[in-house]
Amino acid sequence: MLFSESMVKIVAGRGFGKTRSGAEWVREQVERQRCERIALVAETAADARNVMVEGESGILAISRPDCRPIYEPSKRRLQWPNGAVATTYAGDEPDQLRGPQHDAAWADEPAKWKYPTLAWDNMELGLRLGPDPRIVATTTPRHIQLLRDLIRDPMTVVTRGSTYDNLPNLAPGFIDRVLKKYEGTRLGRQELHAELLEDVPGALWTRKIIEASRVPAFPSELCRIVVAVDPAVSSGEESNETGIIVAGLAANGHAFVLEDLSGRLSPDGWARQAVRAYHHYRARPDRRRSEQRRRSDRERVAHGGPAGVVSLGACQPRQVPAGGADCRAL
Ligand SMILES: Nc1ncnc2c1ncn2[C@@H]1O[C@H](COP(=O)(O)OP(=O)(O)OP(=O)(O)O)[C@@H](O)[C@H]1O
Ligand SMILES: [Mg+2]
Repeated sequence: MLFSESMVKIVAGRGFGKTRSGAEWVREQVERQRCERIALVAETAADARNVMVEGESGILAISRPDCRPIYEPSKRRLQWPNGAVATTYAGDEPDQLRGPQHDAAWADEPAKWKYPTLAWDNMELGLRLGPDPRIVATTTPRHIQLLRDLIRDPMTVVTRGSTYDNLPNLAPGFIDRVLKKYEGTRLGRQELHAELLEDVPGALWTRKIIEASRVPAFPSELCRIVVAVDPAVSSGEESNETGIIVAGLAANGHAFVLEDLSGRLSPDGWARQAVRAYHHYRARPDRRRSEQRRRSDRERVAHGGPAGVVSLGACQPRQVPAGGADCRAL
């Protein structure tokens, strides 16, 4: 495996040995005294502790007794005999990473983090110690912007692998159950073979169409701006995303997607998000249409804003505020 670039990314299937590889990388960096201040970032605080530090493939388990760090969970800190220190962080609490400085970082499963881009940016902005700060990211792929950007980055070295590469180290029961269940399925392509899947089958808007329709900027004046909300029925971890799209219609009849704010959000979260977008884009309402097909927790939300509705902006020219995220023509 190459560790000479500033970013190494291991994109591999479940049970490939991603976490073990990340832990071994940290161990090697510390033992060779290449780094002294390390960020360990997992999806949650519990994952950082249970997987990256204390797990079977984690740092404590793979360290030699004479070089094993002391772990202080209350301080989220590992301290090695040679003075190197690692601190654990949670990708779902990106502000934790605002401020601390490091000379190396190991990010486990960034594709699963709740705020992947924000947490990653904060992590990267703090990577400013030492002559050659480095990151290792170990993840099963998901089609998120952060992963696509990292894989495309010329500074990234990507190592790929599948679950099958690590069969000798996996329990026979796992092989029987999981591989037989998922092999040949779409989920299996992602979880076992680490394929970055392009489109959901039957998707109306394929990635190919979206990429081909991107524009460098949208018109400064749009005659109608819409904040469209498609609420998920529930708001648990396994729920669908609530779709929140800001779109505008130009005088020439072209429609532009100004921002995609979709996410796995609570009713309170998506309602606030939609109301913020509504005010930011000045999508003054002229019509509201309740989406009444599904009765769910969203109907108990009262924010005084357009919760659970589709708001359509007035058909008058309006300036598009700066800072719209995606610039796409559909
Ligand atoms: N080089 C190795 N030698 C021996 N055992 C290994 C090696 N690499 C991985 N393993 C073992 O294989 C199992 C899976 O490894 P690991 O947890 O690192 O996989 P993973 O890709 O992170 O899995 P997941 O996708 O569930 O996060 C663990 O029990 C680990 O100890
Ligand atoms: Mg793992």
